[in-house]
Amino acid sequence: MNAGPPHPDPARVEDVPGHANLVIVANRLPVDQVTAPDGSLTWRRSPGGLVSALEPVMRSHDGAWIGWPGVESAEPDGDPFQVDGLTLVPINLNAAEIEGFYEGFSNGTLWPLYHDLVAKPEFHREWWEAYVEVNQRFAVKTAEVAAPDATVWVHDYQLQLVPAMLRELRPDLQIGFFLHIPFPPTELFGQLPWRRQLLEGLLGADLVGFQLSGGAHNFVRLVKQRVGHHTEGNSVHLPDGRVSRAAAFPISIDVGAFQALAESPSVIARAAEIRVALGNPKQVLLGIDRLDYTKGIYPRLRAYSELLAEGHFNVTDTVFVQVATPSRERVEQYRLLRDDVDRLVGRINGDLGQIGSPAIAYLHSSYPQHEMAALYLAADIMVVTPYRDGMNLVAKEYVACRLDNDGALVLSEFAGAAAEFRQAWQVNPYDIDGMKAAILAAVQSPPEERARRMAAMRRYLHGNDVSHWAASFLAAL
Ligand code: G6P
Repeated sequence: MNAGPPHPDPARVEDVPGHANLVIVANRLPVDQVTAPDGSLTWRRSPGGLVSALEPVMRSHDGAWIGWPGVESAEPDGDPFQVDGLTLVPINLNAAEIEGFYEGFSNGTLWPLYHDLVAKPEFHREWWEAYVEVNQRFAVKTAEVAAPDATVWVHDYQLQLVPAMLRELRPDLQIGFFLHIPFPPTELFGQLPWRRQLLEGLLGADLVGFQLSGGAHNFVRLVKQRVGHHTEGNSVHLPDGRVSRAAAFPISIDVGAFQALAESPSVIARAAEIRVALGNPKQVLLGIDRLDYTKGIYPRLRAYSELLAEGHFNVTDTVFVQVATPSRERVEQYRLLRDDVDRLVGRINGDLGQIGSPAIAYLHSSYPQHEMAALYLAADIMVVTPYRDGMNLVAKEYVACRLDNDGALVLSEFAGAAAEFRQAWQVNPYDIDGMKAAILAAVQSPPEERARRMAAMRRYLHGNDVSHWAASFLAAL
């Protein structure tokens, strides 16, 4: 690892023409700030499919990654710095920007709206203004960093205005955009007071990618309705003669990396240790999610507790491990959710647990990838029940780790992954009885049936990993 960001020197960037031939623009940099043994702050690469998929092409194309380091800072943006040979370009966000752009418009307005109003979105003009300003800062920085005719790939809902802002500054660039979360039905998107600006922002891209083809269709329909451009199939003809295309590119994971973890002796030993620590149960059910109201943690635990109360399972031989990774903790709806889940887990364990045998082993914590892999290996049944989810990579990670084709996946039909994992036990997370039946069916299914379903999902995953995803998006662009 190299040094952290050098001291800011705003004059420098203007003097040096941009040289990156591939620029990734995302709200977050793929690094976490950590404290070194000597007490100084430094950076460590955060694990993630996106960065591992893009790393080879970034290296071969003088790539740069622009994003927020994830900490509050009122300092001007620092100079580009390198971590593990990747060039990272920091955008600092101050307290007001974090409040208005990140917690506000991105996660208090767009996130709930794009996830089918699972929570109520708030519309505030000050949040919108912060969103516009921060998107403009990302666009200006990208315009500085990109080489002539470079390819720029902008990611996710936090940065939907960047493509058009960037095109205005740098018409020579190839610009792609990918939305990692669902794109909402047209009626819901229509609620946004700034719907037209967001559509026009995205239309700055030559290619707008979605997880599912439904998202691409909704987008093109909205462009026709609300902006009035001529559309033909999934192509939008813009007044200046440019064509912007929309298409689906379902994202995936680094299958090889998870497979290697699942094969490694230390992960296998850790999985055995986890089962012993859980009291050697006959059955382990597992949920792993960011603690987010879209993930359906609450109805999942309720369904499981009813199965226990009705005597289908016994806490002495079955346990549900629920990992909830802390997330967006300053946003009110996330705080309320945490209280709700804490209370529910407390009630279920109080009513149904026994000494030494809780009904639910609840962990409010985040774990490194090798611990996640050990949990996947230790779990007989993976329960993934979001109310709405762009893709859900946890489902894919579980499948990638089940080298022996054993294990069962219970999967919400409202996760993007459901379109690919037809062989999962699919459920409607709003239907508690249906979820109970699916969990029971998965638990009771004969080993041959589990193996048949898992093998089919694994075959699919092998042909569709994250490098295939990145390559097909970039090739289409
Ligand atoms: C989702 C979004 C990402 C986001 C991540 C973590 O996966 O699609 O854009 O980075 O959640 O959320 P956070 O707010 O911590 O960045």
